[in-house]
Amino acid sequence: MGINFRKETFRDDFSFRNSPEQIRRFPFPFHEDSYMYAVNIEPHTPGPKNTVFEHLIDVDEHYISEMEDRALVLAEDPLRCQSLPHMTLAGWDLLELLMTQKAESYPEHFSLTRDGDNWHWINRPLGIDDRFTFGDVSTLPYGPMAYITRQSQGDFCVLDQRDGNLWMDAGIVTTQADWSLDFDIGMNFFEWHAPVPLAHDMGIFNRALKFLTNIQQGQPARRFNWTMTINPRLDTSPENYHKWGVDRTTVTPENVGQKVHLRVELQTFWRLPRSNALVFPIRCYLIKMDELVTSPKWARRFHRVLRDLPNELAEYKGLTRYRQTVVEWLSQYDDGAPTSSGF
Ligand code: HEM
Repeated sequence: MGINFRKETFRDDFSFRNSPEQIRRFPFPFHEDSYMYAVNIEPHTPGPKNTVFEHLIDVDEHYISEMEDRALVLAEDPLRCQSLPHMTLAGWDLLELLMTQKAESYPEHFSLTRDGDNWHWINRPLGIDDRFTFGDVSTLPYGPMAYITRQSQGDFCVLDQRDGNLWMDAGIVTTQADWSLDFDIGMNFFEWHAPVPLAHDMGIFNRALKFLTNIQQGQPARRFNWTMTINPRLDTSPENYHKWGVDRTTVTPENVGQKVHLRVELQTFWRLPRSNALVFPIRCYLIKMDELVTSPKWARRFHRVLRDLPNELAEYKGLTRYRQTVVEWLSQYDDGAPTSSGF
């Protein structure tokens, strides 16, 4: 059965919402009642049906509207998509990865036919039907990374690996939690992570880098990160802080359920075959507090996580202005019952 794509917006009238099926497959990221940074990396293997892990590259009901939002961001600000000259081969690798994954997982929506370097790509939801020569940039309307990531949910960082480090030398970043590709382009793993509190001293980034530089082709890995967003806005970039920063002052006990969103990032890590680059897709899932509390165990647990979150993390994630209002609102769903671990 095909996906029922929604018509909705992530700006202006904010008509985004999740269907009941989409709420059930929401990747709730907390496996216990408290949260602290950790090297929470595991193999990215396919998971149960009707979860975001069913396919290694997840396409869901928000696909078309997310791609429309990305196009609006890029039209206003082309620097959200950048690729240094030595990263073009990695762009082709990424195009191959995303086309083959999508065509295999969702044959009713995407198809890829290959005859040597002559490729034929059909993307039915977006109405695209293109023939091109793999490896020849002049046969596509954009560079290979831009072409395929304009058709793929989530942000993408494409990292060159050299000198035992990873370098952010290409990417498309339009749905980020307050960081900038234009600022980070050309930086290495420690440099772009510099603003993160506590994790450097905990040794997390040293261990994570060791793991990432050893990732092999065909053995992708994943982890979750999370934050919160006021209004279902995908583009919470520093470039547009003047548009969304003020939203944080608008949360009241009456509007928490509709305005406040948990924002979960499913981050995956893939070695690319020809370039040996590493690609880092950051897939963002939003859920309103009214939707989240339809699951009593999520409501209980998120209340405790948010209430007990270390201040350094709350400050870094930008929650300080409205955290207490949300904790008090969530407390009505927490009867104090013990929660099991691992759900
Ligand atoms: C935050 C990129 C892998 C842990 C960030 C930020 C960026 C980023 C751009 C925002 C920094 C800022 O405030 O400007 C990446 C990329 C990765 C990667 C491109 C892939 C190579 C990892 C891994 C870990 C990690 C493997 C840990 C195991 C964190 C943490 C934060 C962070 C804890 C703070 C997030 C928060 O509190 O919301 N990352 N990261 N990152 N990253 Fe990474």
